Amino acid sequence: MGSRFDGQTVVVTGAASGIGAVIARHFADAGANLVVSDIEEGRLGAVADEIAASGARRPVVKAGDLSREDVAGSVIKSAVDNFGALDILVNNAGGGIIKPFLDHTPDTLRTTIDRNLWTALWCTWHAVKVMKARGYGRIVNIGADSVRNGLWDHAAYNAAKGGVHAMATGLAREFARDGITVNVVAPCIVETPQVKQITLKAPKALQRFVDVVPMGRPAEMDEVASMVCYLASKEASFVTGQVISVNGGSTML
Ligand SMILES: NC(=O)c1ccc[n+]([C@@H]2O[C@H](COP(=O)([O-])OP(=O)(O)OC[C@H]3O[C@@H](n4cnc5c(N)ncnc54)[C@H](O)[C@@H]3O)[C@@H](O)[C@H]2O)c1
Repeated sequence: MGSRFDGQTVVVTGAASGIGAVIARHFADAGANLVVSDIEEGRLGAVADEIAASGARRPVVKAGDLSREDVAGSVIKSAVDNFGALDILVNNAGGGIIKPFLDHTPDTLRTTIDRNLWTALWCTWHAVKVMKARGYGRIVNIGADSVRNGLWDHAAYNAAKGGVHAMATGLAREFARDGITVNVVAPCIVETPQVKQITLKAPKALQRFVDVVPMGRPAEMDEVASMVCYLASKEASFVTGQVISVNGGSTML
């Protein structure tokens, strides 16, 4: 167990599966006081159990729909109630409904924005108040490299993730003198269990999303989590308002 985040309180959203579960594990292994949140209560509890079984402190579990303002507020409050402060917020909750724009329904369009943008916006709105009062905070959003390269079938998703990217730049400027940094980690396709499953069933289904990656493979979840941890650390004190791609070179600069 490391000590990089010893004594620091971290909220990770969307922690019940995929990249969020791995990010939570990285923070737990590095000594953080952790609050994990997700709409999937059962799976979220299982992630907390796994973390505890590995020898780290069991995270506080707060399940709910984070696209609701009251739920997001209660998650941030639980960090303060349990640990006395909030140092780091990782807005990871999200996920794409990836399809051609005209195949979307009003429901899938609304869900795309709810999942990816409202979750991040409400959590951030509540977190910044707490961070500003203390003069310290790190906010890391999971965005998407598809915002930069306009990947096929990603228009609706990019509308949501583009909002997440844009929110970070505005906040970074607004709170730059309050000790708060706000950044985005933008992955290309990531080899999550879900992506692995799709690839097993239909080996060619996601190939065009891999073909745009010069390194010729999806990102690993640990590669995304490592960048999140760097931006969330005290070392990243002069990095704010940035979108950092973890993408094997699929966009450059
Ligand atoms: N997998 C990829 O290739 C990829 C690429 C770029 C960006 N991303 C982004 O990375 C993040 C993690 O994605 P993942 O691939 O691990 O997907 P995932 O579906 O495994 O994880 C997303 C989690 O967010 C939760 N969530 C969704 N809506 C929520 C809500 N309203 N309230 C609370 N929780 C909610 C889900 O239940 C899920 O557990 C997402 O923001 C996704 O958009 C993923």
